[in-house]
Amino acid sequence: MLYKVALLFDYIKYLLLAKTRHGTHSPFVYAFADRVLYQKYENPVFYDIELIRQKMLQSPTKVNMLDLGAVEKKTYQSTVQKIAASAAKNSKYAKLLHRICAAYSPEYCIELGTNLGISAMYQASGLQNGHLYTLEGNPKLLEIANYNFEKTGLQEKITSIEGNFDQSLPLLLSQLPRVDYAFIDGNHRKDATLHYVDLIWQKCHNHSILILDDIRWSGEMEEAWHILEKDSRFHVSIDLFMVGILFVRKEQEKENFILRF
Ligand SMILES: C[S@@+](CC[C@H](N)C(=O)[O-])C[C@H]1O[C@@H](n2cnc3c(N)ncnc32)[C@H](O)[C@@H]1O
Repeated sequence: MLYKVALLFDYIKYLLLAKTRHGTHSPFVYAFADRVLYQKYENPVFYDIELIRQKMLQSPTKVNMLDLGAVEKKTYQSTVQKIAASAAKNSKYAKLLHRICAAYSPEYCIELGTNLGISAMYQASGLQNGHLYTLEGNPKLLEIANYNFEKTGLQEKITSIEGNFDQSLPLLLSQLPRVDYAFIDGNHRKDATLHYVDLIWQKCHNHSILILDDIRWSGEMEEAWHILEKDSRFHVSIDLFMVGILFVRKEQEKENFILRF
């Protein structure tokens, strides 16, 4: 309850501070806002993915939830419809992820938290030459996600990897030459989030992009974000209230941008 009140104050503060493309003096951030954040183009694949989301939202299939991160505190049963309603990124943010992938053409891309595959399909469909490695600890969710990837024909662009991030992420990183793009959307705890960023950082370069979801999902996630926006490894950070984006860009003065979305 207390966190919800604090969140409301945070949101009011965000609305007061958030700028549009015209309030930013950085050409890079202006271009990001103009060509990516506020672009509203549609792609036929969005329709296919949203049809899959609708199916998921109606599916009574039961899923055993495992103790993997901050949400799944104990094992229990849920249904695909409940999971689709609560865990999958909504279309506004999922389309933004697609546009980021389309605009910056990353090749080696990672997603932590496949769930039913909704955000993975949005990201993979934006990639030109890139490949998305998506990690998930729940085998039943991954089975459904893999089926969805086949349905949209995106399976060629996606490799799904089962296992706890603690083991699967270091193993994947040891096999990739670099990470151009990472979307962190699982195990929303402060220490775990900072640890995953540190691991991914080892394969980052000046043009890598790291995206953190749910930066105001809890006090812990907000703390993690505030640590990362001050982190000298990332010269550009963009706060969209629910999502935080980190760019390395050493050539740029370090600055945090709060943008209206
Ligand atoms: C919020 S959901 C991801 C939603 C998905 N990115 C989307 O928008 O469609 C987070 C997922 O991360 C998985 N997860 C959480 N902690 C994990 C961990 N430590 N290892 C592996 N998977 C984990 C959960 O099982 C869950 O499916």
